[in-house]
Amino acid sequence: MLDDITRISSEFDSALASANTAAALDDLRVHYFGRKGGLIPALFSRLKEVPKEQKKDAGDALNKLRDRLESELKEKSERVTAEESARKQSRDIIDVTLPARIPHLGHLHPVTIIRREMETIFSEMGYSLDPGPEVESDWYNFEALNFTPDHPARDTQDTFFLDADAPPRGEGSGRLPYLLRTHTSNVQIRSMENHTPPVKVLSCGRVYRRDEITMRRSPMFHQAEGFLVDKGIHIGHLRATLEHFIKRLFGADSKMRMRPSFFPFTEPSAEVDMSCVFCKGAGCGTCSHTGWMEILGCGMIHPQVLRNVGIDPEEWSGFAFGLGLDRCAMIKFDIPNIRTLFENDLRVLQQF
Ligand code: PHE
Repeated sequence: MLDDITRISSEFDSALASANTAAALDDLRVHYFGRKGGLIPALFSRLKEVPKEQKKDAGDALNKLRDRLESELKEKSERVTAEESARKQSRDIIDVTLPARIPHLGHLHPVTIIRREMETIFSEMGYSLDPGPEVESDWYNFEALNFTPDHPARDTQDTFFLDADAPPRGEGSGRLPYLLRTHTSNVQIRSMENHTPPVKVLSCGRVYRRDEITMRRSPMFHQAEGFLVDKGIHIGHLRATLEHFIKRLFGADSKMRMRPSFFPFTEPSAEVDMSCVFCKGAGCGTCSHTGWMEILGCGMIHPQVLRNVGIDPEEWSGFAFGLGLDRCAMIKFDIPNIRTLFENDLRVLQQF
């Protein structure tokens, strides 16, 4: 019996030394003092088998062992529990010196960036902004702009026509058919109808054409249209305005050139190229080794268009130009495929 007491006593010392968590210490308590199978209660129940003359010594030794184990276990348990809760508390503390979490911010779409830059550039030159309606009548989209009834742009291949019971904004009746505008030039007519010259307007918005989706084409895309009507306006004003705009949007070293072209609503008409933004005019794969990129269409507003909105072409003249915002975004941000602009892939948008 005394041997067992000595053995258990020294076993306890090493077990206690290696129990360093509250849970391990609790296991130890159960191992020694547990009601069922605890080592100390088991020794006590063996006391009655001890011969009478040894009973007192054995009882004393056992009582001493129990008291020592109890107090040492209690002391270490209290210490370890206190340490653990202190550690937990310091973990839960709010450290006000930590940097703040940055919330996820949205990004402007590349087309929106270009639109806003254009709106800034032209607002600074005194232009007012008018997006105009996307649902339009044949009159505003074609007829008032001098498109002859058999002009190829009216072909159903190009235009999305709408049911007649969806009249466009501000439109009465009688000017059927309705359609999705194929360009922003409708805003020329609407503005000139509503404002007596001088007028200076920039119009940015969506336009629609029945095209297949390809690298460069989409049935919905974005245009910007600018036009100005005043006294004594000539093609020099148009050229200076475009040169200023191109240098502001694409860099002061950009050059431009005008090539003769045709639009029913301008006369003369021109197509404008600017020096390739990638090779600066030297010639590269993107500009088909010409050094130039086609960027917009423009011209002097046709006298018949002015007459159509009740403006006397003998007294007033004006210019107009139109360009694709998507194309500008693709050039400026080096995006080769127009689909990239409309797929809403966050990995793309997050770059802008
Ligand atoms: N509306 C023409 C187009 O969509 C562009 C343009 C606008 C041309 C104004 C001349 C003047 O191609």
